[in-house]
Amino acid sequence: MESPLDQELFPSSAGGSPPGEPAAPPAAKSPLPPAAKPVAKPAGAVVESTPEPAVNKMRRRIVWSSLVVFLVTDFLMFLRFFLPRSITEPPSRFNVGLPGDYALGVDTKWQQQYRIWVDKTSDRIFVIYARCTHLGCTPDWKASENKFKCPCHGSGYDSEAINFEGPAPRPMDRAHVELDAEGQIVVDIAKLYKWPKGDRNEFNDPGAYIPL
Ligand code: FES
Repeated sequence: MESPLDQELFPSSAGGSPPGEPAAPPAAKSPLPPAAKPVAKPAGAVVESTPEPAVNKMRRRIVWSSLVVFLVTDFLMFLRFFLPRSITEPPSRFNVGLPGDYALGVDTKWQQQYRIWVDKTSDRIFVIYARCTHLGCTPDWKASENKFKCPCHGSGYDSEAINFEGPAPRPMDRAHVELDAEGQIVVDIAKLYKWPKGDRNEFNDPGAYIPL
């Protein structure tokens, strides 16, 4: 057995032979591979990327899809700018039925479609163009008050669209009306009859009303 002094004087003899003695045969190789040691990677070495998680792929797909939808919508709106607007505008001349279809008073059923009201009195039927003569808003028919009221600045008109309150300078205009071969009322809002302040009243002109 070696003493500590021997180990200090002959360090290479650890597991080997002291000087002057024949060398010990090399140790037999183990059949098992040596344990793997961590190897430090040199700076600048290419690092292999790990496979991308599925959730990232999904996010990327959603972002790309949103972008494509946005661009396509933008492009369609751009094209729409060059299309003629007349496709969606109502015609200026149209049929609103027979005089007998209307009761006395104001009928608002065509307001949304043609911006008109059909007004029937005891001796005539005429069509009011639903545009305030102040700045062009569409007044509301207040049946309980028997008047039209403009929501913009408060102008009031009676049941025949004659202004009586607020800033409106004159009555609302009336559209051209006539009967066709079947006795139906044909309205033409391209031709309007007016009653300008201090000027001639056109409401009694032929075409401004249909006599009953
Ligand atoms: S637009 Fe009707 S009162 Fe001004």
